[in-house]
Amino acid sequence: MQRDAPSFGRGSVTCRVAVIEGVGAYIPPTIVTNAQLSEQLDTSDEWIRRMTGIQSRNHNGVDSATSDLAAEAGRRAMAHAGVQAVDMVILATSTPDFRCPATAPSVAAMIGLGTVPAFDVAAVCAGFVYALALGNSVIRSQMADRVLVIGADSFTSIVDPNDRKTAVIFGDGAGAVVLGAADGNCGGILATDLGSDGSFAHLIRVPAGGARAFSSSDPTMFDNPYFEMEGKQVFAEAVKAMTESSKRVLKGAEWSNDTVDHLIAHQANLRILNIVADNLGISRDRAVLHLDKVGNTSAASIPLAMAYAAPRIQQGQRLLLTAFGGGTAWGSVALTWSNNYALEGVSNVGDI
Ligand code: COA
Repeated sequence: MQRDAPSFGRGSVTCRVAVIEGVGAYIPPTIVTNAQLSEQLDTSDEWIRRMTGIQSRNHNGVDSATSDLAAEAGRRAMAHAGVQAVDMVILATSTPDFRCPATAPSVAAMIGLGTVPAFDVAAVCAGFVYALALGNSVIRSQMADRVLVIGADSFTSIVDPNDRKTAVIFGDGAGAVVLGAADGNCGGILATDLGSDGSFAHLIRVPAGGARAFSSSDPTMFDNPYFEMEGKQVFAEAVKAMTESSKRVLKGAEWSNDTVDHLIAHQANLRILNIVADNLGISRDRAVLHLDKVGNTSAASIPLAMAYAAPRIQQGQRLLLTAFGGGTAWGSVALTWSNNYALEGVSNVGDI
């Protein structure tokens, strides 16, 4: 269905904001349950559920990479918004198809978007929030009228399938939103908060494959192509960063905690979600839970959770997004669910 662009005119709009016009999601069809992982690894369904809340995740097939996931989510978001063109594509990913070049131009070409500017943002699990904040600025500054923001990751390409500490946590997937420009009365993205702390870069990393490995005298840097994570410290830093960033963005939007309708936090671990909700004084039943079905999908986590929750979100409701990831990097966004047509019946997201 083709829809008209949101009404705004560059000359007449006093407060131009970015609104979500459509959402889309795609996860590869192969479901891997905790029971299946327990057959290959020294782990159990009980441990994984108790420690993470995850029940299953999805893995890419041999013929699928990050661009394939991203393009499908992007197509679905555009179909949902009823638009056939965008002015820019921003892809959040830390598992690009190639170390060089960026993956976003391929995604734009796969969707048939012509020669629009397209680039990657690498902030690991905080990537989508970074990309969304950037898309918001691009629209507010009138650099573009419509931006496709995608979060996509294929962590199965970097996780050691024999490492029980990480293999049980991550899954593959992609989620996307179409951001459009609208009059401020329509709501939209009201406040953003981004931050990083590179002194914690060692907590989450893939040692091999980057410039550091080639310039290092440590041969183990060169040899280890797999993702490494200091789980306990990541847990503590994630709780702290998401709590503090959320508080800053709530202040920026001038919202009190009890007015948040939906907390969409990075889907890393159920225990982290609960602690962050408790720290913020937001009732746990307002925290969207999707990780049980798909695990931690890194940059895809927030848009996937948003697409999953979309049928239950009503026009004008307040959403608080917050994420933390490697870098370390974190970010939060306060937004109101879009004005009129955009988000009725997100039928395209399927059973996610
Ligand atoms: N199955 C069974 N046992 C496991 C296991 C698994 N999959 N993974 C680890 N264990 C074992 C450990 O070997 C350890 O055993 P030991 O006590 O005999 O040495 C024990 O469980 C505790 O391991 P530990 O790593 O100390 O547990 P933890 O309390 O830190 O929980 C995580 C592990 C990964 C669940 C937790 O650290 C976590 O969720 N961290 C955040 C990860 C995350 O969200 N990352 C993304 C953020 S962007």
